[in-house]
Amino acid sequence: MLTQDTLLKFLKRHSAISIATLEREAQLPKNTLSGVINGSRNLNEKHLLDLFPVVTRYGYNHEAFSKARVVSIINHKGGVGKTTTTAYLGEALANQGFKVLLIDIDPQGSLSEVLNIRVGNTQVFHSLLNLEVPLAIQNVQKNLDIAPSDIELSSAEKELSNKIGGELRLRVAISKISKNYDFILIDCPPSLNILTITAMQASNGCLITTLPKSNSIHREYKELIRKQFSNLKVFDSEIKHLIDFQKAMIEHQTISVFNKNSEAASSYQNLGEEYLQSLDKRN
Ligand SMILES: Nc1ncnc2c1ncn2[C@@H]1O[C@H](COP(=O)(O)OP(=O)(O)OP(=O)(O)O)[C@@H](O)[C@H]1O
Ligand SMILES: [Mg+2]
Repeated sequence: MLTQDTLLKFLKRHSAISIATLEREAQLPKNTLSGVINGSRNLNEKHLLDLFPVVTRYGYNHEAFSKARVVSIINHKGGVGKTTTTAYLGEALANQGFKVLLIDIDPQGSLSEVLNIRVGNTQVFHSLLNLEVPLAIQNVQKNLDIAPSDIELSSAEKELSNKIGGELRLRVAISKISKNYDFILIDCPPSLNILTITAMQASNGCLITTLPKSNSIHREYKELIRKQFSNLKVFDSEIKHLIDFQKAMIEHQTISVFNKNSEAASSYQNLGEEYLQSLDKRN
């Protein structure tokens, strides 16, 4: 099955595919797809039927493109860049034109604080306790939304542990809004507690952030990780220790709003590109 929405999501993620080639292979009139991409026209049912086998040959899969890709940013250690990565990788993907939702599932509420977002009447906590309450979502900047949290979320730990299927509740909440986004990134607390498990249950994958042990053994450390976890994707992109990250956080600005030409902003842009390429290889 192919819809205009899922086709657009697929094309955004596979920008190397030539639109003219797709039109030719699906025998569509010239510029049909470019019109859809710039919003000046819609595809009819026949177009979609003709396009379906063509995009399938290029790796389209309805299951993958009808919903957002959900990624938990995890590490049980504190202060290893989880929140920073959630915010700025999210921003990098949003800057590439993807619709991104960040979910703060850390009672410290650092992600919400860093982005200068105050919780409203409801927050993630309420959606976990009562499945009828939709995730309270606020806009941060273009293409970038957040479901914020604060310390109130800490009481969810006990409540979720006492509920059968408690660890599946975030997954249920996300399933209701997933089609509105390309990517959903979840900022997890520094612990393997029920909140982190809840996030992982809702995710297609995890991104583990880590700090170098020391500069002198950094290269060996990376090689060791690659060897020990050969079944995991270890990113080549590295985020250096840069003062701009701390300055941006103090200003409550995202890194590309703080300085879009800085090394700090471009390092997350590079990570975003490498992440997108890693997905291309899979579907
Ligand atoms: N690449 C970097 N260069 C310099 N400072 C950084 C960098 N990445 C993060 N920081 C700073 O390090 C501190 C910890 O980062 P961050 O909050 O992202 O870690 P965390 O893993 O989310 O921590 P916690 O486990 O407490 O949630 C923050 O003050 C942040 O501004
Ligand atoms: Mg954090």
